[in-house]
Amino acid sequence: MAEDRGRISIPGLREMKERGEKISMLTAYDYPTARLLDEAGVDVLLVGDTLGMVVLGYDSTAFVTLEEMIHHVKAVVRGAKGALVVGDLPFGSYNESPAQAIRSANRLIKEGGCAAVKLEGGIEMAPTVRAVVEAGIPVVGHVGLLPQTSAKVGGFKVQARSAEEAAVLVESGRALEEAGAFMVVIEAVPAPVGTLLSQSLKIPVIGIGAGAGCDGQVLVLVDMLGLQQTLTPRYLKRYANLADAVEEAARSYVFEVKAGAFPGEEHGYAMDPEEEAKL
Ligand code: KIV
Repeated sequence: MAEDRGRISIPGLREMKERGEKISMLTAYDYPTARLLDEAGVDVLLVGDTLGMVVLGYDSTAFVTLEEMIHHVKAVVRGAKGALVVGDLPFGSYNESPAQAIRSANRLIKEGGCAAVKLEGGIEMAPTVRAVVEAGIPVVGHVGLLPQTSAKVGGFKVQARSAEEAAVLVESGRALEEAGAFMVVIEAVPAPVGTLLSQSLKIPVIGIGAGAGCDGQVLVLVDMLGLQQTLTPRYLKRYANLADAVEEAARSYVFEVKAGAFPGEEHGYAMDPEEEAKL
């Protein structure tokens, strides 16, 4: 059992950056894993719209609905006693107008119970971020590779490889900070670009495939646990190999059920012999 660390707060994350303490963030999608990650001391749980691909079996995050996000955010919030929970606004729930973004963010906060929302996009989304923040909802930005609209750049590709593109990205980060975002995720950029953005902003910058110079790191849970082994981006470190463990456990179960080896006597309930005799 982890030591009681209290609830991670938004100002607390900024203080962590200021004192040079790295921020740990992982995605979470359900109650039991949220509890485990929270107990393990993860600072921020992101109910990412990767939900669609790694839990719901869609082949793109674009199909995830706001209702699905709310359903999973609720479960994660119930399991997170100390970690700050951030819910992703799914594609189509915020890109029509700032008013639509406020409506969707309100639902994620009020119905889901998370502390903040995340939305994808750079400088072009700054007015939307400002509107949501002014409506009283804390926002995390997301720059670099933007999975929801990755088709525009030809798929899941490393972004900001040139100095010119890196400068545009930093400008985007600054616009999001200026609009009131309290944190920014940066995805799939060369390590020096992750470092540059972290050094350029006062708010924490959380990297995924953006090098060790970021203020914190985030990974997709099922990838880092090795539960899904189809995708192996270069940045991914697998901390476990649960796919093999789960498959092995299920094989043993199937074998024992078919062989009549499970359940054993120790897994059953005894009956009073007199009552049994009357059966
Ligand atoms: O949706 C998600 O899980 C994310 C992470 C990749 C950061 O945005």
